[in-house]
Amino acid sequence: MTADPMTISRELSGSGSSTAVLEAYSESVMNTFGAPKRVFVRGEACHLWDADGRRYLDLLSGLAVNALGHAHPTVLSAVTGQIATLGHVSNFFATPGQVALAERLTSMTGADEARVFFTNSGTEANEAAFKITRMTGRSKIISTEGAFHGRSLGALALTHNEKYRIPFEPLPGEVIFVPFGDADALASAVDQSVAAVVLEPIQGENGVVVPPEGYLVKAREICDQHDALLWMDEVQTGIGRCGSWLVHVDQGIAADIVTVAKGLGNGFPVGACIATGPASRALGPGSHGSTFGGNPVAAIAGLAVIAVIERDGLLDHAKALGGHLTAAIQGLDHRLITGTRGRGLLQAVLLAEPIAPAVVDAALAAGFVINAPRPDVLRLAPPLIISVAELDSFIDALPSLIDNVAKESM
Ligand SMILES: Cc1ncc(COP(=O)(O)O)c(C=O)c1O
Repeated sequence: MTADPMTISRELSGSGSSTAVLEAYSESVMNTFGAPKRVFVRGEACHLWDADGRRYLDLLSGLAVNALGHAHPTVLSAVTGQIATLGHVSNFFATPGQVALAERLTSMTGADEARVFFTNSGTEANEAAFKITRMTGRSKIISTEGAFHGRSLGALALTHNEKYRIPFEPLPGEVIFVPFGDADALASAVDQSVAAVVLEPIQGENGVVVPPEGYLVKAREICDQHDALLWMDEVQTGIGRCGSWLVHVDQGIAADIVTVAKGLGNGFPVGACIATGPASRALGPGSHGSTFGGNPVAAIAGLAVIAVIERDGLLDHAKALGGHLTAAIQGLDHRLITGTRGRGLLQAVLLAEPIAPAVVDAALAAGFVINAPRPDVLRLAPPLIISVAELDSFIDALPSLIDNVAKESM
């Protein structure tokens, strides 16, 4: 094979090669994700193209990642400009972009004192947070039923799904799971032995589950009563996805630790563990590290994403389109749609029957990328730049997609 990257890229994006790539996939890539449903070779704004030249409307954004859609010109020029100037130096040294991004992220918390540890993913951001909780001298952590925090051993210990967890036990920490959204259960579980309570403001992987109004305020109060840290995992919900930089801050809550990733780099791997107050001083030299975390290219990607979200008013746009989506889906008045839930552009369509995976396949065949976090839940997490017309094209198609699947399953 040639070593010329442009030739490699042209060969890989050549049409008619889906079957060959999928055949080679199973021989060369570990089977942790199941068989891929498509081979994508190109993206532009809210659209993707597969290796056979078919176009799709991307309503998933690579799992809530591509906030600005694909190949966004500002991110593209920021990333390529930075890698042409300075790509990587290690964390023995500082770079201006890293500090600028840290300042942008800490200001989102609203805290007077806050500091960032940069990572390459949400899981790693949670690992850094986990270490901060250990610095309290306590080791018990309260997590919630349905929680997802990642797949490394530390993050997995906090993830509720037993199918993911049990094969890898023993896992670190003494982790207690309480029902999500139940403030009384949380109050009963937290005492002076608890280092931290870790919560997603909305459980994305569990099917976009929104807790009752006031739950996060109660969680803050409970943590304060017992000197426990409140750790908000905003890996999926943060950086504009739900119409605010951070959902918990939008709800008037201050956290001790906040983790973000996904939408921050628009596809460039970048995550951050942001700690406030004393927690921001908990880790010292030698207590944690990362070769790539916060490198200049990752930092400029994050800065570019934040700048575009701000410049183009995408927080308000996400809120408005989330409202439009909810109203339009409810307006379908479809017998198999029982409701919607979510915030901004992280939304779930709830189905009366467990046909969501088949609807996802039907949607893909019709040119729409969505997913099914639960058998009766469709998740939509489109790019924040999506237009009303693009969203409507999916909403118009949804009833017949569901009807056809329901007919086949009868
Ligand atoms: C709330 C939450 N935390 C952590 C993670 C793990 O992030 P990553 O896949 O970037 O490691 C995810 C991923 O879905 C997530 O939704």
